[in-house]
Amino acid sequence: MRPLALVTGGAGLIGSHLADQLLVEGWRVRILDNLEPQTHAGKPAWLPSAAEFHRADIRDTAAVRSALEGVEVVFHEAAYGGYMPEIAKFVEVNSLGTARLLELIRDERLPVRKLVVASSQAVYQEGAVTCSRHGRQFPGPRNDSRLAAGDYRVACPICGGVTVSTATPEDAPIGGETVYAMTKLDQERLVLNWSRQTGIPAVALRYSCTYGPRQSSRNPYTGVIAIFANRLRQGLAPVLYEDGEQTRDLCYVGDIARANLLVAGSSSCDGLAVNVGSGVATSVRTLAEIIADRLGVRCDPIVRGEFRPGEMRDLVSDITLARRLGFEPAVGLDEGIGRFVDWLARQNQAADGFVDAETILRRKGIVQPAATGVAAR
Ligand SMILES: NC(=O)c1ccc[n+]([C@@H]2O[C@H](COP(=O)([O-])OP(=O)(O)OC[C@H]3O[C@@H](n4cnc5c(N)ncnc54)[C@H](O)[C@@H]3O)[C@@H](O)[C@H]2O)c1
Ligand SMILES: [Zn+2]
Repeated sequence: MRPLALVTGGAGLIGSHLADQLLVEGWRVRILDNLEPQTHAGKPAWLPSAAEFHRADIRDTAAVRSALEGVEVVFHEAAYGGYMPEIAKFVEVNSLGTARLLELIRDERLPVRKLVVASSQAVYQEGAVTCSRHGRQFPGPRNDSRLAAGDYRVACPICGGVTVSTATPEDAPIGGETVYAMTKLDQERLVLNWSRQTGIPAVALRYSCTYGPRQSSRNPYTGVIAIFANRLRQGLAPVLYEDGEQTRDLCYVGDIARANLLVAGSSSCDGLAVNVGSGVATSVRTLAEIIADRLGVRCDPIVRGEFRPGEMRDLVSDITLARRLGFEPAVGLDEGIGRFVDWLARQNQAADGFVDAETILRRKGIVQPAATGVAAR
């Protein structure tokens, strides 16, 4: 009998690509997803007919128990995400949802032989940096009052001097400076701790910013690429926080999905948290330009010097450990953005909720104004 995988969140961006790849590799696939309205307008067209679909909430123990029947490998992708103002919902869905899933498998002695949980590079405090005097350093979060004054730099924690961003390895200090990050950290720790106690192998994959076709455009709080593309398509300029020179590790969704299959098929990363990303830093401004270029429109971003407290300045993943597993990002940014933009052009879901969302985020203090406007990097 072909092995059965449960993909929680399998209707979403990463989960659906993972489900497709599993089916191609000969797995039987079951999807548990509540079609969270923040992400979906009903059942998405891409849900594979070859997969069994359970529309259910990860917090619904009876539904999760039924979805776990006969499952060998669980890919736990379901989560509440982004920079939403809620606090309790993050904790309920991400932390408590994961806790319940783990208890069920343990207490009912279900024959799960591996669990892979979606963590995030958001668990780090700040990206690693190099100081010309002190070498590689792991600075803490930046100070809000300096950000408000338009000073976005990351200083060397020893001498306070200028630093250059460098790749962040898994043993960098973890932080959790946003509610989302706290709950991703909870999920990762709960899973790895449970794995040690039960002896069921598990891996936490710390994804970098993931993008590609099927990325929800309904959620204006997350998915910078979808947000920029939607605004540009409507003739609206992208809004860049800080000065737009902050960098991110952007990874094509097919590559992220592939990493899940790799860890499922190997024991070499069992018990570990593993970075999965492109290993390449791209500034948010450059990203906006690439998208505009692909769409054939002018970019002219809006830069008001606003910032989001707790957000990292530069973050690029060190993917050495994943590479040891045979992971290699296959789709570069230009190609990946091209695929996303082509897909988006075939959708009719360009509603721009960003303006409303921004107003809410400002009111709740999640986006903060800079007192002195835009500063140089
Ligand atoms: N996209 C990224 O850049 C990124 C980066 C790091 C980590 N992650 C993590 O990867 C995972 C997948 O993210 P994604 O980008 O595919 O997001 P997504 O929103 O496209 O998919 C998440 C899926 O989970 C479902 N879901 C949400 N709440 C649920 C609930 N209570 N019960 C059942 N299903 C629920 C949603 O309906 C959705 O289909 C998440 O755990 C996320 O935290 C994503
Ligand atoms: Zn120094």
